[in-house]
Amino acid sequence: MLNREIINWYELNKRDLPWRNTTDPYKIWISEIMLQQTQVVTVVDYYYRFINRFPTIQDLAFADENVVLNLWQGLGYYSRARNLHQAAKSVVENYNGVFPDSFDEILKLKGIGVYTASAIAAFAFHLPYAAVDGNVNRVLSRLYGVSESTNSPQGKRLFQSLADELMSDAAPHIYNQAIIEFGALQCTAKNPACDVCPLQSQCFAFINKQQDAFPVKKKK
Ligand code: ADE
Ligand code: SF4
Repeated sequence: MLNREIINWYELNKRDLPWRNTTDPYKIWISEIMLQQTQVVTVVDYYYRFINRFPTIQDLAFADENVVLNLWQGLGYYSRARNLHQAAKSVVENYNGVFPDSFDEILKLKGIGVYTASAIAAFAFHLPYAAVDGNVNRVLSRLYGVSESTNSPQGKRLFQSLADELMSDAAPHIYNQAIIEFGALQCTAKNPACDVCPLQSQCFAFINKQQDAFPVKKKK
């Protein structure tokens, strides 16, 4: 099973990242929002600083917006910080300060899309949602030789269903970290480490020497 092999690879190669040692949905949410447009090495410091300053969602909700934006200084895309602040307020107001534990409720929060809602549902609540980001699209498109573009509506549906199927009955919190990490470290955008890849013999792109042809993106 491919999912088992990706998880085995993960157990041998994973980085120890702080948001992987918690099931607190608040902390996982902060990390995933930071990771959207910022590299892991940069996020680690910002994550610690943010969590130390605002250890709970209540602390964030009651903070002055300028203090939140100040902590975000250097990460860019400041709407992310404003949305975090607003969503924290709404969790305090509408959910009594308890982070919602269903995918549909999580998805309603400001600044949270399908990827982030899936990631929080899987990492915090161990719910069976496959989170599909750029890393995951790249891995899936190469493994299965998907020529559909990753950013078209049909493409998004296709990649989501491939990811759901690949996850199968694996533990969602482990499977999702595993395939994200596999894309980040092994099946990288440039020069994927195919010569040491455990999936070689099952990988369409490797077999056909077409690693650089995937993923396909439609110009917008
Ligand atoms: N990128 C997005 N989510 C991530 C995670 N949980 N760990 C590492 N990189 C990520
Ligand atoms: Fe990615 Fe290469 Fe492994 Fe295929 S063989 S999954 S392209 S690293």
